[in-house]
Formats: sequence, C-alpha cells, structure tokens
Amino acid sequence: MLTDKKIILGVCGGIAAYKAIELLRLLTKAGADVHVIMTRAAQEFVAPLTFQTLSSNPVHTDLFNLIAEREIGHISLADKADLFIVVPATANVIGKIAAGIADDMLTTTVMATKAPVLFAPAMNVNMFTNPIYQENEQKLRRFGYLFVAPISGTLACGWEGEGKLASPEAIFEGAHAALTKKDLLGRTILITAGPTREEIDPVRYISNHSSGKMGYALARIACRRGAKVLLISGPTALAEPEGIQVVKTTSASEMHREVMARVAECDAVIKAAAVADYRPLVRSAIKIKKKSESVTIELVKNPDILAELGGAPHCPFLVGFAAETDALTKNAEKKLREKNLDMIVANDVSQVDAGFNVDTNRALLLFRDGSSSDCGLMSKDQLAGAILDHVAARLMVQ
Ligand code: CTP
Repeated sequence: MLTDKKIILGVCGGIAAYKAIELLRLLTKAGADVHVIMTRAAQEFVAPLTFQTLSSNPVHTDLFNLIAEREIGHISLADKADLFIVVPATANVIGKIAAGIADDMLTTTVMATKAPVLFAPAMNVNMFTNPIYQENEQKLRRFGYLFVAPISGTLACGWEGEGKLASPEAIFEGAHAALTKKDLLGRTILITAGPTREEIDPVRYISNHSSGKMGYALARIACRRGAKVLLISGPTALAEPEGIQVVKTTSASEMHREVMARVAECDAVIKAAAVADYRPLVRSAIKIKKKSESVTIELVKNPDILAELGGAPHCPFLVGFAAETDALTKNAEKKLREKNLDMIVANDVSQVDAGFNVDTNRALLLFRDGSSSDCGLMSKDQLAGAILDHVAARLMVQ
C-alpha cells in the first residue's frame, strides 16, 4: 500500500501521456496522495482538468504562477515528495535534466527534490537508441536516478522497436520498489505458487482450488525488497509479476524437478504451492470413454518436495505452508517438525476470508524455536510482507 505517501507525477509531452492517467488511478487507489506537474507540451495531449479531477489536487503547470509561488511552490512540492515519477519521460526532458537545465516547473522540481526520481521513458526507437539519449540516461543512472525501461512494440509513429512506454502496472511496481527498503538485496529466494495438475487423460485432471495469489504476492514483495526471485508456478490465471521470470509447471513431478534444479543457488525457499499429494498411476494417452457405472482410478503418492528439501544435508532457510480445515495449530506444528522446517505459515482454508482464491488471509506463523506470531486478517500482500520480515530477519543472523 502507498497510504501516506506523497508522490509527484510529472507528465511530459508525448503521445503516451494518456497512460499517465491510468498510472494516476493505480497510485490513488493504493492510497497515495498524488500531485501532478505537467509540462506545456503535455497539456497539448491531455487536459490538466483530467489529472486534477482524478488526483483531487491542483495540477501544477506554471513555474511563475503568482499564487502557487507565494510559498515557492516548486520547492515546497519537491520537499514534501516521497517519490517523483516522470511519465512519459521524453528525450527532451531527460536531456535537460541530465544537462542540469531547469527551465520549467517539472525540471525545476526534479532538480530541487531529495526524493527518489523514477523515469518511464517513451519515444521513437531511433531517438531511444541515439547515443546522445543513451549517454544522458546512463549519466542519470550513475547519479542514482531510477528507470522503468520502455518495451518493444509498434510505436505511435509507425516504427517497430524499443521506445514504447512500459505498462502502467510495471511503472506502479517500479514506484513500489523505489519506496521499499532493500533488506533482501543479494538474496535469492525460490517461491512456489499455485496448484498442481495431475492428468488422468488428455482432457481430465485432479487438482485443487489454489489460485496462486499468495505465492505471487510473496514473489512481488520479495522482488520489491531487492531479492532475486525464482518463481516456480503451477497453472494459474494470474499475470506474470513484473520483473520476475516465472518457471511454469503443471504436475507435482515437474514442480519437483524445477525446484531441485535450482535449490543450490537459494538462500530461502518458500513453498506456498498447494501440491497434489497423489497422481493417477496411469495416465491414459487417449480420452477415457464412458462405459461402466463406476470407475476406480488408482492413485500413487507424489514426491513431497518440502520434506525432501528439509531432509537434505544443506538446505536453505525453509518456509512451508499448512492448508488446514481443522486442528490448525496441531497439524501445522506436526508439519513443521516432520518436514524439518524453519517456519510454517498455517492457514485455515475453510474460512471465507482466508486461503484459496481470495485476496485476504489470516495466518499463524510458527517457528522452529517454538515461538509463534498470529497475523490476523490481512491482505495477501500484507501477509507476504509479514512473512518476508521474518525471513529477512532470520537470514540476517545466519
Ligand atoms: N508440499 C510439497 N510437496 C507435496 C505436498 C506438500 O512440497 N507433495 C508442501 C506444500 O507446498 C506446503 C507443505 O508441504 O508448503 C504442506 O502442504 P499441505 O498440503 O498443507 O500438507 P501435506 O504435507 O500435503 O499433508 P496433508 O495433505 O495430509 O495435510
């Protein structure tokens, strides 16, 4: 959440200026207090009234506005900002800032702020690859300015290539990352998420209700906190988290193989996936036809990935999940002990506001040393933060 964060959104004159409106919506929905500055060129693309209405704050357009400058507006805006985002950042504005030119409200405020500044560039591919632009960007990066790189695609000018503004979601994620303490920097964390699917034949499978939301929240938050995240996902309907490479798997055996191939490089493993305990002994190569009144499918046990990790001589910091419908603490303690875990996240999946397919969770965290922490009802993002607080603290003392 961005509650209590003051964000300055600097909008420059580019065709992608309308996408800054979408970003503004994401920021205000997350609780941020957004103040918009528009360059003169930006106002040719979008009317200031749109930003003013959606931000509930006056839009700043003029460095020489006598009312705003009663209190030296550009300095007071620069001082109160937690973050400055420039979207779309044009080659012109980036060039001016890199050269130390402050000749309008936006460039003057960027120059005056001590807050982190995040640029989301958008321009024609030939402008983007021009060595003058590239040198300006590198110079700003060296000084600690942050960038959300543009993507490749069809540009407004008809050219194909790099220079298309990153998605509002990617810039939103960059804003979160810019405001987050990097207490997992240098750490590699493997996270599993979602259900597994055990095929009976080409059209049918056994699975469970896991949506993957908890594991994906953990991946997103760990990445914001500076970790290198390896996300091994079962089949989900979720979009891939920004900046994270997702290894897609289907069955428990595939997930097992992908986890084992990467565990040696990890500082911690968080197993949020709801792995199917059993798979059909035989997978029919062709669709099973309806014949008799009843059928019996013989199931065999899948590898228990977590238990195997816990039993290995050199295992990373190990976090398991316990999805329970009864005797929550007792069952979770048993799993913590038997799978040799450092920590377990116990949640009662029979509740309507916790567990599978919802955006909230209520969890009890149990630790190897016998201590525990009751997290109560919170969003999955908040719970991911609470879990990672413990992981970061315990990795620090290892
Ligand atoms: N797990 C795993 N491999 C399996 C089964 C579970 O790695 N084959 C992991 C899950 O990712 C989770 C933890 O073990 O972190 C506990 O999973 P859960 O389904 O709650 O318990 P199980 O061990 O499967 O036991 P049961 O189904 O009897 O409750």
